[in-house]
Amino acid sequence: MDPRLFPWLSLLCCLSVFGHEPPGARADSAPSAAQTLVWGPGLETDIVLPARYFYIQAVDNSGTNLTKSPGEKTFEVKIVSPVEQFTRIWIQVLDRQDGSFLARYRMYATYSDLHIHVLLRNKHVANSPFILKGTVHHDGCDCPQPSGSVWEAHMHCPQSFPQIDRDLSLFPSVDPDRIAHEIPQRFGQRQSLCHYTVKDNKVYVKTFGEHVGFRIFMDAILLSLTRKVKLPDMEFFVNLGDWPLEKRKPTEKIHPIFSWCGSNNTRDIVMPTYDLTESVLETMGRVSLDMMSVQANTGPPWSDKNATAFWRGRDSRQERLDLVKLSRAHPNIIDAAFTNFFFFKHDESLYGPLVKHVSFFDFFKYKYQINIDGTVAAYRLPYLLAGDSVVLKQDSAYYEHFYNELRPWEHYIPIRADLGDLLEKIQWARDHDEEAKKIALAGQQFARNHLMGDNIFCYYYKLFQKYAKLQITEPTVRNGMELVEQPTDDLFPCSCQRTRAKDEL
Ligand SMILES: *[C@@H]1O[C@H](CO)[C@@H](O)[C@H](O)[C@H]1NC(C)=O
Ligand SMILES: *[C@@H]1O[C@H](CO)[C@@H](O)[C@H](O)[C@H]1NC(C)=O
Ligand SMILES: *[C@@H]1O[C@H](CO)[C@@H](O)[C@H](O)[C@H]1NC(C)=O
Repeated sequence: MDPRLFPWLSLLCCLSVFGHEPPGARADSAPSAAQTLVWGPGLETDIVLPARYFYIQAVDNSGTNLTKSPGEKTFEVKIVSPVEQFTRIWIQVLDRQDGSFLARYRMYATYSDLHIHVLLRNKHVANSPFILKGTVHHDGCDCPQPSGSVWEAHMHCPQSFPQIDRDLSLFPSVDPDRIAHEIPQRFGQRQSLCHYTVKDNKVYVKTFGEHVGFRIFMDAILLSLTRKVKLPDMEFFVNLGDWPLEKRKPTEKIHPIFSWCGSNNTRDIVMPTYDLTESVLETMGRVSLDMMSVQANTGPPWSDKNATAFWRGRDSRQERLDLVKLSRAHPNIIDAAFTNFFFFKHDESLYGPLVKHVSFFDFFKYKYQINIDGTVAAYRLPYLLAGDSVVLKQDSAYYEHFYNELRPWEHYIPIRADLGDLLEKIQWARDHDEEAKKIALAGQQFARNHLMGDNIFCYYYKLFQKYAKLQITEPTVRNGMELVEQPTDDLFPCSCQRTRAKDEL
């Protein structure tokens, strides 16, 4: 080939050698400091979260959003306080691989004024530095906003949550005096329950039943909330078991019971699961899998993901056994295996050998994620949705607080409760790759918009606020209740300006 006829050929060659561009990226798709977008709750003083966070969307000179990562270390975030020499703040910038980044930080002390610098090659990005004026509280600071409506406005909470309205619509009123007697009588012997009273923003509890270890999750969210906002006085019961309890028909005398999982056949009031709640409270703390970390670990891009459907888990339900059998019959379509046998007798000839635990982030090497109930709803669904694989969700009577807002074929691909159409649905996804990818991204968007820490705090608050309004007698600290104390191991206790000002009035 005569290069004089194709001068651009040699140019192309040199661009690819010297341009340092990842394959597929165009030369003009470098982020611009001026055009790049930065937004999110972590840029606001009054949105107190265990881990605060904000987003960075890389935008090039022409104003076009980047859709691929410009490199993990593209943006640098620094947080300083002009009046302190050191800030005890742990920062991470997570690359979401789609041209956007999630910057998160956990504060170990409270500061007055914070300056957040977002830098691109030492140049300020967008309106950086972002200034958080006034007292910026850390999560451990016991400094409740006295007005719930002011707090909700600061948090940008939605006016209502459809699931809360549905659940509470069955209870025209709640009589604390009555439930304080009747619920322990009805369930206290055989179930594990917590009876909570919140009075003057202090939390009191009495437990019923033997297995009450899971109360730590409920204690933790209540204490975290009462540090941030004054809760209404209220009295309520939390079911610490897996299964929802209130099986009476709505026309009978039903009792309000708060549970982590709801079902079509019960009338419990659902809350975000203890798993999701814990992951919010312990983001950048005790947990490694949370709604933010998962966004930075979604594996290869869609086109490079393995088109075998994937599942790992334990044997907590018959359909899980059926799924593994199906996988053994169709290994080119489904890779499903047990990591643990606990509920059923393990027959290796039927279910194969146990396989090693797979890191959750490695699930996203696969395009198709199968979500099947365990003892109740599978609490992994929020994290599966947050990835960029498409979820095939088993129809189920069990639900978490957000399932009823998900739409089949929009956010996930539905499969029958008995898995009878699973092979067919996987084939559909393989034959309709663009549609499947679109569903994957819609599910991801749902998770990003509805299942982050601020959404979870709003949900709990709204639930308590609406429930409290239904009470027709005075919530009371009952005999046998103990105070649930705020942790005292905080290294850097804060002085709460707000409470002090109020006390001095
Ligand atoms: C670019 O990204 C921002 C932030 O996600 C979004 O609001 C905007 O609609 C995007 N622009 C285009 C043209 O897609
Ligand atoms: C896809 O995954 C299956 C099951 O895990 C595996 O057997 C197969 O080799 C993988 N395919 C590719 C191309 O990696
Ligand atoms: C449970 O109720 C939902 C919503 O009404 C419905 O879509 C679903 O099919 C029901 N599932 C089962 C197994 O009852």
